[in-house]
Formats: sequence, structure tokens, C-alpha cells
Amino acid sequence: MTQTVLLAGATGMLGSRIAHRLMSQPEARLRLLVRGGDAAKRAALDPLLAHGAEIIEGDLADLPALDRATQGVDVIVSAVQGGPDVIIDGQAALAEAGRRNGVRRILPSDYALDLFKATPGEHMMFDLRRTADEKIAATGIEHVHVLQGAFMEMFGPGMGTIDYETGVVTFWGDGTQMIETTSVEDTARMVARVALDRTVPSGKFAFAGDKVSILDAAKVIEAQTGRRFERRSNGSEANLRAAKAEAHKDTSNPFKAVMLAYQLTMLTGQTALSGMQNDRYSGLQLESFAQFAARTLPRRVAA
Ligand SMILES: NC(=O)c1ccc[n+]([C@@H]2O[C@H](COP(=O)([O-])OP(=O)(O)OC[C@H]3O[C@@H](n4cnc5c(N)ncnc54)[C@H](OP(=O)(O)O)[C@@H]3O)[C@@H](O)[C@H]2O)c1
Repeated sequence: MTQTVLLAGATGMLGSRIAHRLMSQPEARLRLLVRGGDAAKRAALDPLLAHGAEIIEGDLADLPALDRATQGVDVIVSAVQGGPDVIIDGQAALAEAGRRNGVRRILPSDYALDLFKATPGEHMMFDLRRTADEKIAATGIEHVHVLQGAFMEMFGPGMGTIDYETGVVTFWGDGTQMIETTSVEDTARMVARVALDRTVPSGKFAFAGDKVSILDAAKVIEAQTGRRFERRSNGSEANLRAAKAEAHKDTSNPFKAVMLAYQLTMLTGQTALSGMQNDRYSGLQLESFAQFAARTLPRRVAA
């Protein structure tokens, strides 16, 4: 049976992949909530429009637009990113509009490690999402929290932990703490299936393509690229907490404190995923970190 899915965030990194994966589900009719103004971003949506997707122009702060967007919708998928105005107020308003207009379910923009287990106050991005998720649940709409761990892309060039320019892998602690990780593409594939699966109950929906430590990831990347990376510890958990406290004082670069908060949750292991649903859909095989590296990184050149 056809279901109408409203996607917020289709111009974003993850949202654009979710849009394409939803489009390939025969039972999905796709509607996109898109902010106006950026012609290039709008042009990138053309292939979706050509396949029948519909655009509703609007911001999460625009309540009449949210009412227009949610009418006749079965499921809302949110892949927005931003501060409290977007993650808390915007998503709560979207869920409330959905409830008013008879939408059955929302998938909020979580897509993380188990943010519900994080110590309040330690990770601003997780705090925002927990607050949003409480408000969304209070509307009475069904809510499914997709939790897939860290994106495998976070271990890629330009992301800091593994520095492909200098050939150095940096970590806190001894680098052996395991974390769940999934590629963006697999996350999008799973979101498209979960969104349309009426039998998934409200609550967490966890899965992961792999579970690796930073040292495991470095070994895989070395095997794939033929490069040798130096291992370098930044220090202990106490050192990390001190660095994070310092970073909070530097208001010129809030991103640094956020990245250290991610490192801290990974190092303590407190946000580890449980109740994995990897095998829920036959035919949906999640790629391992080695498969991801083989797909995305240059191959070792034989000597
Ligand atoms: N676990 C991980 O390793 C990991 C890594 C990265 C991201 N994530 C998560 O994935 C989710 C998506 O992140 P992303 O990196 O894909 O984000 P992104 O590329 O920054 O895209 C954000 C999207 O939200 C839209 N948006 C922002 N404010 C809006 C508003 N007020 N009204 C309507 N739309 C609005 C943006 O629209 P415009 O194009 O108009 O700005 C864009 O489409 C987030 O929850 C993020 O935390 C997880």
C-alpha cells in the first residue's frame, strides 16, 4: 500500500541519500520540505522531482508551511541539522503539525550512537536531540529513533581522526575502545525501510555495519591504501575532559568542543548501541568497515 513520506532535510548530506533511497521504494510517495533561496541545492533535487517527488517550500519555523507539508502524510523523516531552534523547536513544531494532521509516525534527526545513554551536559548535540525527542514523544505521535553509530565517513580524509595529509592517527586513551559504525549509504537504505515498515514500534532502532576501534580502522585503511600511519595518543580520559573544558571557553570555534564531546562518548563507551536490528530486512546487507574502505579509498598499488 502506498505511503506518503515527508522528508525534511533533503538538501543535506544524509537527507539527500535518504531521499534517493525512499524514491526507490515502490510503496513510497515522496514529499520534500525545502527552504527556498539556493538555486544549486534546488537543482540537485531535479532527479527526485522527475521521479514524482513533490516539493513544499518552507522552513521549520514556518507553521503554516508545516501544516501544508504534513497534510495527507503517513510518515515524517527528519534529517535536519542545526542548533536548538532547528533540532528542538523546529522538529517539535513539525511533529505537532504532523499530529494535528493525522501523521502516524516521525523519525527524528538522531542518527547517532545511543544518545539516550549520554550523561546530560556532556554532549551538547546529544542533549539537544534528547530534549527534542522528549517533546516529540509528548505530542503522542509514533517516534522511531534511528541509531547507527558513527558514520564510517568520519574515519575518512578531512575528518581529523585519521589524518591522510600527515599520515598520523590520533586518539584518546589507548585507541582500543570499540564503537559501532555504519556508512551513510547503508543508514539511508535502512531509514527508507524503517520509515515504511508499519511493524516497527516507537523507540530506538539500532543497527551497525561494523564495530571497530580506531586502531582497527587504521589497520584496515593501511591494508587498503598501502600507507603506514603513525599512532599517537592525545592522552587519558582526564586529559580529554580538560581539553573539552578548555574548548568550551573558546567561543570562536564551537565545533572543537562538539568533536571532543563525540570523542569522550566514544572513549567511555557509555553510548554503545544495543538491541541491534541488522538482520531485520532480508536483502539489506550492511557493509563492513573493510568493504567501505575498499569502496571509498584508493587501492594499494602493488610494488
Ligand atoms: N553519526 C554520525 O557520525 C553523524 C555524522 C554526521 C551527521 N549526523 C547526523 O545526521 C543528521 C543530518 O546531518 P547532515 O550532516 O546530513 O546535515 P546537513 O548536511 O547540514 O543538512 C541539514 C539539512 O537540514 C535542513 N535544515 C536546516 N535547518 C532547517 C530549517 N530551519 N528548516 C528546514 N530545513 C532545515 C538543511 O536545509 P538547507 O539546505 O536549506 O540548509 C539541510 O537540508 C543530523 O542529525 C546529524 O547529527 C550523524
